[in-house]
Amino acid sequence: MAKIAPSILACDFARLGEEISNVCECGCDYLHIDVMDGTFVPNISFGSAVMKSLNPYAEVPYDVHLMIEDPDRYIEDFVTDNTEFITVHQEACRHLHRTVQHIKSAGAKAGVALNPATPVCMLKDILCDVDMVLVMSVNPGFGGQKFINGALDKIRELDALRKENGYSFLIEVDGGAGIGNAQKLRDAGCDVIVAGTAVFKAEDRRVAIREIKGI
Ligand code: DX5
Ligand code: ZN
Repeated sequence: MAKIAPSILACDFARLGEEISNVCECGCDYLHIDVMDGTFVPNISFGSAVMKSLNPYAEVPYDVHLMIEDPDRYIEDFVTDNTEFITVHQEACRHLHRTVQHIKSAGAKAGVALNPATPVCMLKDILCDVDMVLVMSVNPGFGGQKFINGALDKIRELDALRKENGYSFLIEVDGGAGIGNAQKLRDAGCDVIVAGTAVFKAEDRRVAIREIKGI
């Protein structure tokens, strides 16, 4: 079984509060908060004010995915009582070790994301310090894209590395995940599956969440 983090990027922004309450009721484990700056990725989403406005509706913790350049500038803005993970991109951090320590000292768990073209070996010297590794299975910037298969090998590689070394980080996958590939992702070693379209556009969200989790 895996946990599921619906990406709120795929919800109806005009009814954000209701949408969040609904996926919480339907059994999600986290709310995946996709923050895009229009520079690191070719799209702009929303900032910490929008995330904080969800506090009254969010019954599960935030899993914040910062797709922004130089994220150290904004870490504190995204730390709330409801924030569990803050994930930054390896490609966006010049001093990744410092940024990971920054997230932890601000009071959140630290995640690092890898774009599809970035190999797992880029994280070798930081794996002992991170709480989560996010494997991007699409190029970040947009919801509703097709799953890139190479992500499965990365998940297997990370799973093997944590077993060999006794690391405790979680493995998360993000992009193009849904009922059709969830079992493969879970079998590869994935602990948290992000799903935007597959949850928010599902005919029955409760069923989609259960199937993706593998209940
Ligand atoms: C992509 C985002 C993803 C995305 C997932 O840049 O990080 O979280 O919204 O959406 P789906 O599940 O529709 O691919
Ligand atoms: Zn994301």
